Amino acid sequence: MNTDWKNFEPVLIPNIKDLYKIDVYEKNGGYEQLKKVFKDKKHTPESLVNEVKAANIRGRGGAGFNAGLKWSFMPKPDGGPRYIAANGDESEPGTFKDRVIFERNPHLFIEGSILAGFAMDITAVYVYIRGEYRDQINMMQKAIDDAYAKGYLGKNILKSGFDLEMYVHSGAGAYICGEESSLMESLEGKRGYPRVKPPFPAQKGLWGRPTTINNIETLANVPLVVKNGADWYTSIGAKTHPGPVLYGISGHVNRPGVYEYPTGMLITDLINDVCKGVRGGKKVKAVIPGGSSTPPLRGDSLDGVRMDADSLRTAGSMMGTAGMIVMDEDTDIVDVIWRISHFYHHESCGQCTPCRDGTGFLEKTLIKIKDGEGEMRDLDILLDLCTQMEGRTICALADAAAWPVRYAVERFREDFEKRVKKTVYAVA
Ligand SMILES: Cc1cc2nc3c(=O)[nH]c(=O)nc-3n(C[C@H](O)[C@H](O)[C@H](O)COP(=O)(O)O)c2cc1C
Ligand code: SF4
Repeated sequence: MNTDWKNFEPVLIPNIKDLYKIDVYEKNGGYEQLKKVFKDKKHTPESLVNEVKAANIRGRGGAGFNAGLKWSFMPKPDGGPRYIAANGDESEPGTFKDRVIFERNPHLFIEGSILAGFAMDITAVYVYIRGEYRDQINMMQKAIDDAYAKGYLGKNILKSGFDLEMYVHSGAGAYICGEESSLMESLEGKRGYPRVKPPFPAQKGLWGRPTTINNIETLANVPLVVKNGADWYTSIGAKTHPGPVLYGISGHVNRPGVYEYPTGMLITDLINDVCKGVRGGKKVKAVIPGGSSTPPLRGDSLDGVRMDADSLRTAGSMMGTAGMIVMDEDTDIVDVIWRISHFYHHESCGQCTPCRDGTGFLEKTLIKIKDGEGEMRDLDILLDLCTQMEGRTICALADAAAWPVRYAVERFREDFEKRVKKTVYAVA
């Protein structure tokens, strides 16, 4: 593990003025990897897939799946169209890091997508961007237009014989459209209902054709791997979850923001050093490590916990999107969990009963507790509801709704108990 963050030089968002402009990107080595692959024949599609697989870029959209392994699931080309859906829906509370790529280094993502396109013999890349990111959508469109003008996109890219189109698609405010199969439905012009899997997108994706869905940050890592090799990439950060990562840190810290450092950083270093501590010198009560769906950790359980999949699993949470929410000692956890539940209830697409009704019951029960109308047995009802929701639905939104509630009730039980009316029932 190499988590020497103090000497780490950012590579996803290097500190270069106006890097979002194509000329500046090119002057700083941009699109060189594409030239090496197309002109110098540095890689074949197969060797590219293998290099990315060996680098073990774990998906930055939440699930942490090895990107190269996912690419290898694509069937052999049959002459028909094949797609990448680049996921920039970024609608989970606490997650705001792809936005920085759109704003600061869009061409790194575009170059990564073209390399991924070549590796999988892709026809078109659809860049699905959260609808509220209006400025970022315009910025991405401009970056794509510039890449077309320079011959990096379109027909016969750099005279290689390889064609690739890239389109921006705006979301319309639904969190569920970030779920990969729902995203494809939305791209096809339908209501964003998640699909039952299997079939998986590699077999039957967009318009029934082979499709790979990757997060924006995941694809932005690809040129770095092609440039420096898988060994370089795996030498950064945590052994089983390597590479640079964009930590999006919000909440009660003195310096919230998006920071690029190696994976595997201590949560306490991120809070105390990178973010300059908690506001007013207060103690940390809770940390949600990777977006609102990841289980909250107690502030007094953070010692030695690192931001990588293994360390967080041991601690009882998940890396998710590395969107960390820090809450100080004055935070009302019941209120926080109610607000998170409200979000998931509102965003449930309603297809599955455990999710449609479960998110509603969770919210209703939490409102009862937060308003001082709760009973002790409501805490068990909450846990029971979570059990009825977890792993029983078409997509993972139900789990995402259940986990914060389950782990908050288990880990901050005293806060919930304090709010519960101590009602004694007469037994008839
Ligand atoms: C309800 C829900 C919302 C999601 N939202 C996003 C999102 O906004 N962005 C994203 O990249 N992945 C999101 N995901 C995960 C995607 O389904 C998918 O795993 C991911 O885009 C794959 O890319 P990766 O392997 O590069 O991480 C979401 C999943 C669920 C269940
Ligand atoms: S789990 Fe929820 S959001 Fe996902 S498909 Fe079922 S009802 Fe829709």
